[in-house]
Amino acid sequence: MSGKATYPKIVVTPPGPKARELIRADESYISKSMVRWYPLAAESGSGCIVRDVDGNEYIDFNSGLAVLNVGHCHPRVVSAINEQTKKLIHYSYTDFYYQAIVDLSIELTKITPGTFPKRVFLSNSGAEAVEAAMKMVKWHTRNSLFLAYTGAFHGRTQGAMSLTASKPVQRRHFFPLVPGVTHVPYPYCYRCPFHLSYPECHLWCVDFIDEEVLSKYVPPEDVAAMFVEAIQGEGGYVVPPDDYFTRLRKILDKYNLVMIDDEIQSGVGRTGKWFAIEHFNVVPEAVCVAKAIGSGLPIGALVSKDEVMDWEGGSHATTFGGNPVGCAAGLAVIETIREERLLENATKQGTHLLNRLKEMQSKYRILGDVRGKGLMVGAEIVKDPDTRQAGPELAQEIMMKCFKRGLAIITAGKSTMRFVPPLVITRELLDAGLDVFEGVLKEVASSVR
Ligand SMILES: Cc1ncc(COP(=O)(O)O)c(C=O)c1O
Repeated sequence: MSGKATYPKIVVTPPGPKARELIRADESYISKSMVRWYPLAAESGSGCIVRDVDGNEYIDFNSGLAVLNVGHCHPRVVSAINEQTKKLIHYSYTDFYYQAIVDLSIELTKITPGTFPKRVFLSNSGAEAVEAAMKMVKWHTRNSLFLAYTGAFHGRTQGAMSLTASKPVQRRHFFPLVPGVTHVPYPYCYRCPFHLSYPECHLWCVDFIDEEVLSKYVPPEDVAAMFVEAIQGEGGYVVPPDDYFTRLRKILDKYNLVMIDDEIQSGVGRTGKWFAIEHFNVVPEAVCVAKAIGSGLPIGALVSKDEVMDWEGGSHATTFGGNPVGCAAGLAVIETIREERLLENATKQGTHLLNRLKEMQSKYRILGDVRGKGLMVGAEIVKDPDTRQAGPELAQEIMMKCFKRGLAIITAGKSTMRFVPPLVITRELLDAGLDVFEGVLKEVASSVR
């Protein structure tokens, strides 16, 4: 999968025979709760290319759901994992000590926003980092109410699901949830819930939290924390206005409320900064990290201001969380991002990506909105740019056609194409993927009257 080969490479129309066989077996045994985007049966991956079981090679604009920021099987990560497995695979940091958790935690305190002393809780997943954050702030504040956003996705365990407000199917039949969560509108300017326009709105969505929510029905003295996504991920790759979070921070400070920043999808260099909140010049009390930090190994982290992570011994723990192999991968990921200057590459390639999508937007009416930071970019598909009516069927058609032609890309929200290639992507490969996308977009747009 290296050398001079050009990508993508489709040798058999997917799903090929081996993929179909694998999928048949999967359908008999695997939990029915999974919804696959398309029949991509992955066999191997290298850099920005994922290869299926029939030998098709796709340009990966998914990064395995924003996990493979340093690319598939980065040699530095593979070597760190191999070396660690020869020494120590497990020894529960809940109960004992080992070097790898300390090393990774120190690095995490360095790359997360805020110069104050910090502490780290290492978990197995994003949802577990969120659960830890919920419990930590409950313990710290002795409060039990939370604020979160409509459209938010924080995970699927009971607590995280209670914060999540992305799709009804994620909550249906699972009530009662953890009580005390109030959802407020996310600053989704293209589809403002208040039908206002930025900047004439003067960020009413922030004042709404103060003047309506906290002043009328959510007593601030009972609030444990507000959970935010600096860029909303599953909700549609939505980017708030530049001054949004500074205004929000002022309100949280006014009431002495903790801000927990869920950077599980947007973090670890994805947006050209270590964490997306840095684009907005505010500092949260705690950050949830997962996905890309392990480059595919199950590891997550809650990195908190020391004074907020003040819970007592025995109040929270985990058997596998912070396992030595995941920590070794995490350290290798951080080192790779630094040494290969991947924050710079994400910014550089991300600017090119946005520019190309904006060019397409001027040509194809179904591209309603284009937005993003670094290599976390969304392009919203609409039936008509004047009415802004979402086009989920069109987005689905685009996604499937891209897949058949060798570009692995999925959607977010109702009808947003999400562009999250590995941060190691070159201009050449990015353009090759965008050429596939544009070809499909042109075809689909021409079928819309
Ligand atoms: C912002 C955000 N938070 C939390 C999660 C949950 O992470 P995990 O699937 O590792 O539990 C996700 C997963 O997509 C996410 O995007």
